[in-house]
Amino acid sequence: MEQKIKNIGVLTSGGDAPGMNAGIRAVVRACAYHKIKCTGIYRGYQGLIENDFEELNARSVRNIINRGGTFLKSARSRRFMTVDGRASAYENLRSEKIDALVVIGGDGTFTGASIFNKEHNFPVIGIPGTIDNDIRGTDYTIGYDTALNTVVEAIDKIRDTANSHNRLFLVEVMGRDAGDIALNAGIGAGAEEILIPEENLGTDRLLESLKRSKKSGKTSSIIVVAEGDQIGKNIFELAEFIETNLEDYEVRVTVLGHIQRGGSPSCYDRVLASRLGIGAVDALLEGKRDMMVGIKDRKLTYVPFDLAISGENEIDIDLRRVADITSI
Ligand code: F6P
Repeated sequence: MEQKIKNIGVLTSGGDAPGMNAGIRAVVRACAYHKIKCTGIYRGYQGLIENDFEELNARSVRNIINRGGTFLKSARSRRFMTVDGRASAYENLRSEKIDALVVIGGDGTFTGASIFNKEHNFPVIGIPGTIDNDIRGTDYTIGYDTALNTVVEAIDKIRDTANSHNRLFLVEVMGRDAGDIALNAGIGAGAEEILIPEENLGTDRLLESLKRSKKSGKTSSIIVVAEGDQIGKNIFELAEFIETNLEDYEVRVTVLGHIQRGGSPSCYDRVLASRLGIGAVDALLEGKRDMMVGIKDRKLTYVPFDLAISGENEIDIDLRRVADITSI
């Protein structure tokens, strides 16, 4: 028989994402609803190892649904990657009388959670929180929608200056090894070309496409480049390569960087985080563990961690066709 859960710990780990606060809020309030204790753990797994705990009640999470970042702070803990670090974390959970954990983060967070669960037989449920949208078994991760809107807004501004100077802009966006942000924001911002790690379309295609654009009367262009794309060594070398091979192009580079992780979460991310937070607490109370709660076809779904972090990122290839046709 499952041990009754009386105290749930919650933490955020890895790169922060807009909507994480809304997720913490939902976990805390679901605990209050079920009349169980909730313990906030600061600085992710690092805080778990260093005993950085604070009891949270429904009022501790007021006025945070609209705030970006994570008030519990986040970290990428090297110590949690070691057996000793995880053993200390387990001891701290036991002495604090925490019976289960909700971890909000991406694939690194889930990898740690899964190992910890297996090593110590400790119930953990994960909530996908990363702007990269690179987790299997969920259509969306918390923060992705907000990041897309941030990128599109930034590129709209770049378009104004690109157009005024008849320039070609290369815009680098985040996503680590995944092209979801680049492909979707690229279509949304009307990019000429979108370069993503999932497809290596090569430099010939890129040059041909730019030549065609010039001929068809385009005076300025935007190319969205995912940070994990392999075509150029890096975006600056790619810019040089284009200028060397197409003399009539004046090229500029913008790396959007961490601006993409900040800002107030979109309504979509707030609702998603609220649903997943409640789903995570429900799962623990039903005896589920070693799983992520996600969203598939608008319904909550529970996926084993191993599956959530498995395989290569897949993109919707229909979007490539949409990008090619709409940028003609
Ligand atoms: O995983 C989120 C993310 O923002 C990636 O898109 C990016 O590659 C990485 O984190 C950057 O990490 P850091 O903030 O540690 O440099």
